[in-house]
Formats: sequence, C-alpha cells, structure tokens
Amino acid sequence: ESQLNPDDTVKKVVYAPEIDSTNNEAKRNAENGAKDGTLYITESQTGGRGRRGRQWVSPSGSGIWMTLLLRPQINPANASMLTIVAAMAVTMAIRRAVAETGVDVECHIKWPNDVVINKKKVCGILTEMSAELDCIHYVVIGIGINVNTTEFADEIKETASSLFVETGKNIKRSRIVALFAEEFTKYYQKFLNTGDLSGLVQDYNELLINAGRQVRICDAKEEFTGVAAGIDSHGELLVTKEDGTQAVISAGEVSVRGL
Ligand code: BTN
Repeated sequence: ESQLNPDDTVKKVVYAPEIDSTNNEAKRNAENGAKDGTLYITESQTGGRGRRGRQWVSPSGSGIWMTLLLRPQINPANASMLTIVAAMAVTMAIRRAVAETGVDVECHIKWPNDVVINKKKVCGILTEMSAELDCIHYVVIGIGINVNTTEFADEIKETASSLFVETGKNIKRSRIVALFAEEFTKYYQKFLNTGDLSGLVQDYNELLINAGRQVRICDAKEEFTGVAAGIDSHGELLVTKEDGTQAVISAGEVSVRGL
C-alpha cells in the first residue's frame, strides 16, 4: 500500500495468503459495500477461474492473481471495454518491468485481451459485472499473470508461458503490481473522459500483436482469413477480408488465430 499514489485509481490493496478466487472475493466484498478502487491480491487461488468457464491454475508464489473492483458511472454496454483498458495497463507494466531487467523481449496484446510474449500467453483477464439496464453496481477485473511459473498443464503447454521462462529473470511481483496501478490510472482516466475507447485506439493498436497481420476468424456462422487493421472505439477488431471488404469482429463470439 505504501507504493500507492493518492491520485491512483487503485486506492487500497487487500491481501490474503489463499483464497478461492480473487474475482469471487472482490464480488463478495462489492456486495457488502467495498469501495471503488479496491485491489484484491492473493498468493494462491484454490478455484481460480478463466474465461469460458475454464479453470485458471494459480499455484502459490508463481504468479500475480489479482482483481480490481471498480464502480464506474458509465453505460453498462461499454463495461467490456474496461478489459481492454486493463490489457493495455498490464502490457505496459510487464514491458516496463522486463525493460528494467535489461532483457529485450517484446510483449504485446493478442486481441482482445490476452498478453503474449514470443506468441505465448503470459496473462489473462476475466471481467465480471453486476448492473441494471442503465447503471453499473460494480465491475471486477481479474488479472492473472504467470510470473515464475515453470510447469504448465499438458493442454496449455504449447500456448502458455511465464515472464521467467521468456526472460530468464526473476521479476518482483510487487514491482509489476505498482507499475500496473500507475498505468491503469493513466488509461482509465482517458477512458472515462469519453466513456469509450476513442482516446485509446491508437495506443491500443500500437500494443496489438495482430495489427497488420493475417488472422483467421472463426465464429458460429463463418470462417475466414483477413488482415487485422486494429480496433475501433468500441473495441471491435477491424479485419480486411481477402475480397477487400471490411469485417467488424466483436469479442466473445469468435476465436482469432494468428497465422
Ligand atoms: C483467461 O484468460 O481465461 C482469464 C484468466 C483470469 C485469471 C485471473 S487470476 C485472478 C482472477 N481470479 C480468478 O479466478 N480469475 C482471475
């Protein structure tokens, strides 16, 4: 807590040695009136959750398992954009922490909100919300960063990695958390200025691994290959198809593969 700046979005850090899931903990506390800007961090999760109902393996000491509770006064329809804001902040935090070790590896966002190094996922984000039609009660943004992990389950061996594996350096987790708080504050304030991503599109696209590259889009209706241009102010991915027409892809409905 000593490292928090009074102007930060992150106002308070709550630490627990072990918890089921920091997202669950944040939601329980949010229901009981916990304040905007509270960050829940744990050493290990017994029931860490990923997107699409998947499990998120969160062993003790190997990563950063944290959830930020926010109560933004924005249109609930735009809440998913907060995941994109968080992805930008965590990517910049990892980039800066890695640069401080003197190692030169590239860290990017894989649309919409995975963080990758050498094409491997080192961080995932799970955002959940409680809202009415026109009012958000709270949003919890759960972030899992594989920092020291050296062993991965067979199903994710080919696609997952950690900062230690990719850089060969031990990076202090508290440093990444402090950098995240700083970066998140910066991007979140830009986001709140407009309530959408319009002020962040360029910054985001510069962090995006897919920009200018071929991607394969697979959803329930169709499957096609195109070149990703970047996101628009809603966070949708603009893809130029081979016939020259443009497709607008929403997160959540599709899987995107880099080629
Ligand atoms: C994903 O890529 O599937 C999202 C993974 C999110 C994992 C983090 S770890 C902290 C927080 N608590 C959870 O149970 N999940 C998120």
